[in-house]
Amino acid sequence: MIDRLTIAQVLESYPFARDFLDQNRLNVSGSEHLTFAEFLKRIDADEIEDQALRIETLQDDLNRYIEQILDFLGVEESGAVRSLTILPGHDKDKTPETFERLDIYRSQIVSIVGPTGSGKSRLLADIEWAAQRDTPTGRAILINGENPDPKWRYSSNNKLVAQLSQNMNFVMDLSVGEFIEMHAESRMIGNRAEIKAKILAEANRLAGESFLASAPVTSLSGGQSRALMIADTAILSASPIVLIDEIENAGIDRRKALDLLVSQDKIVLMATHDPLLALLADRRIVIQNGGIRKVVETRAEEKALLLEFNQIDAVMQEARRKLRAGERLGEVDGKIGLRFPADDRRFA
Ligand SMILES: Nc1ncnc2c1ncn2[C@@H]1O[C@H](COP(=O)(O)OP(=O)(O)O)[C@@H](O)[C@H]1O
Ligand SMILES: [Mg+2]
Repeated sequence: MIDRLTIAQVLESYPFARDFLDQNRLNVSGSEHLTFAEFLKRIDADEIEDQALRIETLQDDLNRYIEQILDFLGVEESGAVRSLTILPGHDKDKTPETFERLDIYRSQIVSIVGPTGSGKSRLLADIEWAAQRDTPTGRAILINGENPDPKWRYSSNNKLVAQLSQNMNFVMDLSVGEFIEMHAESRMIGNRAEIKAKILAEANRLAGESFLASAPVTSLSGGQSRALMIADTAILSASPIVLIDEIENAGIDRRKALDLLVSQDKIVLMATHDPLLALLADRRIVIQNGGIRKVVETRAEEKALLLEFNQIDAVMQEARRKLRAGERLGEVDGKIGLRFPADDRRFA
């Protein structure tokens, strides 16, 4: 839950975290502007050895420590989701999954990679349904370290997850404006006109072709309806967990969509084949034959590659735009070639 916070912010929000640092003889003075993970990376090898520090687990330990203290203090309002845990089940051949448990905290992004048909959507569905060894994978999901309250399963206004699935079809006979209003109403939002305008504007930023509030939802293209759902989810949904299934196939600007969806305090899981999106995550779950084979931390070197991927991607996007607009490719300043845009550091 603290991964994106600086140490100063962590100590401000959770003053008792100081005890954890002291107990582990971690001297953070002068490093308060770093995140805890950055701080851990800077501890030199001698010190690690001298103090017998278990660097790999300290981050998780601190997360768990804060969670336990909050539980003990009863500070967070009840029902707040602070962590999601996946407990192993089995693959399609009933071979047990070998990871012990996988804890995901607020503000963490985890991607899910693996071949088509390997079980990525199935894993998202396990989470959406808060599986209790009652799905084809035999997995169990814990919320805040415990078996989830049945309310997550059965109540529709109290949804655990905001799911953005691969296929989204509207069957209702509503205009875009009415659709948004209906949602805003059911979520008891006050300033509806403002919210409606905001969602429409964001949806149009994501979609290739723009659309109006008066358009019937059934007339939207696949990309437009996905854009609408994403903007709606990002702006209206109070769900603590966001599940995203192959957003890159949606015919929308996937990076803008992610920017919009990934807000500070959510747990985000995203199935993807797109290196740009996969590397954006802090960790990636690798799925094969229905089972979770491993969980890989995104290395700093891989994050650095994102910069290059963003440039390559910008070139491809520009080529796509030109082709669509009927322009010719390969003419830059009167010569044949490609223009590489300036660094895009949005996801650095
Ligand atoms: N562990 C498992 N045991 C049994 N069936 C599984 C398992 N994992 C996935 N499946 C099934 O395999 C099929 C393909 O999975 P899916 O999640 O759609 O793949 P992907 O999203 O990676 O393309 C689905 O019918 C799904 O229910
Ligand atoms: Mg799928």
